[in-house]
Amino acid sequence: MTAEHEDTGEVALITGASRGIGYGIAEALVARGDRVVITGRNEEALREAVERLGADRAIGVPGKAHDEAHQAHAVKRAMEAFGRVDHLVNNAGTNPVFGPLAELDLAVARKVFETNVVSALGFAQRTWAAWQKENGGTIVNIASIAGIAPSPFIGAYGVSKAAMINLTAQLAHEFAPRVRVNAIAPAVVKTRFAQALYENREAEAAAPYPLGRLGVPEDIGGAAAFLTSDAAAWLTGQTLVLDGGLFLNAGVGA
Ligand SMILES: NC(=O)c1ccc[n+]([C@@H]2O[C@H](COP(=O)([O-])OP(=O)(O)OC[C@H]3O[C@@H](n4cnc5c(N)ncnc54)[C@H](OP(=O)(O)O)[C@@H]3O)[C@@H](O)[C@H]2O)c1
Repeated sequence: MTAEHEDTGEVALITGASRGIGYGIAEALVARGDRVVITGRNEEALREAVERLGADRAIGVPGKAHDEAHQAHAVKRAMEAFGRVDHLVNNAGTNPVFGPLAELDLAVARKVFETNVVSALGFAQRTWAAWQKENGGTIVNIASIAGIAPSPFIGAYGVSKAAMINLTAQLAHEFAPRVRVNAIAPAVVKTRFAQALYENREAEAAAPYPLGRLGVPEDIGGAAAFLTSDAAAWLTGQTLVLDGGLFLNAGVGA
């Protein structure tokens, strides 16, 4: 990418950002003039994402979100490369199982919590210590509407996203006034992760959405850009439900 960017002088660390929602957020923040550090497990995919974002605006740090050494290394790389880490977006998440909670392997439940919740806390501890405690900033946690209302067959995922929503409120309280912490709870967004929910039946899948379509990564990018900007300067501890109006169907006679 050779286009000239405005420069905010700010830096964002976005986990799980070689594709999908994380990449959509990286694109939105680079477009407004941030520099970004993105993570993901597959090195080649990460390298390609950095190339698309612009090698002068982005660096990639490969690793697994739950690995504490990786968390420390990613924050260290952000500080070495750019000298600051204003914003943290905890986006990397997993949902390895589909089925009833009654039969869930508890080792899988622990893995879901480790990747979706404990990792987010680990990254938050590290960006707080390295930069945000002294200099301020924001944290955005990517939760899910599955963390607000029960979603059959993805129970452990939903419980982990509910924990992420509470983690958001806890950290918002603890890190105020310097750091604002908010979450985004999307409904179905068209990514590889959610593909099974809409593949070959997108019109049917989108039918309950008052806004008439499923989400796209750009929708989440726009919301993350808002939450990490001064336009949201008096907003903390909140979870923004980003669902094309899906929850409007919860009332009587919907
Ligand atoms: N799509 C939806 O409908 C939807 C709705 C609500 C919430 N969400 C949440 O949004 C987040 C992103 O999902 P997505 O739909 O964008 O998924 P996606 O398209 O599958 O992208 C996931 C990204 O995260 C990376 N990643 C996956 N597991 C990782 C791990 N353990 N450590 C580090 N990086 C990892 C992937 O790269 P590698 O595979 O190379 O690691 C990829 O860059 C998740 O937290 C998900 O729960 C998604």
